[in-house]
Amino acid sequence: MSGSAKLNWVLLLAVIGVFALSWYLEPDPTQRNFMFLPGMVSAVPYESFTANPVLAGGATMQLPPAGTIARGYAPIHFEATPEEAERAGRELENPFSADDLLALEQGERVFETYCQLCHGSGGEGDGTVAMRGFPTPPSLLAPKARELPDGRIFHIATFGQGNMPSHAAQIEPEERWKAVMWVRQLQAAAPPVIEEQVDEGVEAEMVSAGEEGEDIVSVSDPEVDDER
Ligand code: HEC
Repeated sequence: MSGSAKLNWVLLLAVIGVFALSWYLEPDPTQRNFMFLPGMVSAVPYESFTANPVLAGGATMQLPPAGTIARGYAPIHFEATPEEAERAGRELENPFSADDLLALEQGERVFETYCQLCHGSGGEGDGTVAMRGFPTPPSLLAPKARELPDGRIFHIATFGQGNMPSHAAQIEPEERWKAVMWVRQLQAAAPPVIEEQVDEGVEAEMVSAGEEGEDIVSVSDPEVDDER
């Protein structure tokens, strides 16, 4: 008998064995099941959803007293509208100071986890999701994003904007503020694109396309010129 035929017999016997066992061990629904660790099934303390003779209302789970706010869930008194985004920009301030390096480092992690996929690690709108068909976000290094106040970016991270979804459910408010810090850091680290530089780049390209053999390096980069 070949190896695979043997294996088939073993498997057939195993299947028959399983059916036989489940028939033989068929539970009797009129009897209680075996209880493993009974202390976990019938706990000594009152359980969340059981009646409670000690607490008010006779219930174990109590409603929070009126007017209380759960830790970390401070309400944000802004709506998800463009006007409110502007108001957030005027009224909200980042609770972390710019020289809080720990918060900045955590902000990088938040950005890398939740923003980079669309905005790209450098903030230039070249994240994987954008590269694969999601509407490309504008560069966070562009003058427009540089001019957005911190509070406005916090509002965008909280409520979304246009095609960008809200991130309030994924990221706690403090972490959103840290991400704002990282956006500022990316902007500070990259020199702003000035109109003139863009023009020069286009000119250099035109030269290279038009006049064959022309030394393009000398047009855009005088430093390389000096080295020769
Ligand atoms: C699913 C992709 C996606 C993710 C994730 C995402 N964004 Fe965006 N973001 C966008 C898109 C698309 C826009 C452009 C929205 C529009 O139509 O105005 C945008 C716009 C922005 C803008 C406004 C830029 C401008 O010039 O108007 C900021 C600031 C911003 N995002 C910050 C963030 C931050 C911070 C995070 C992480 C907490 C984040 N985004 C996560 C897609 C994303």
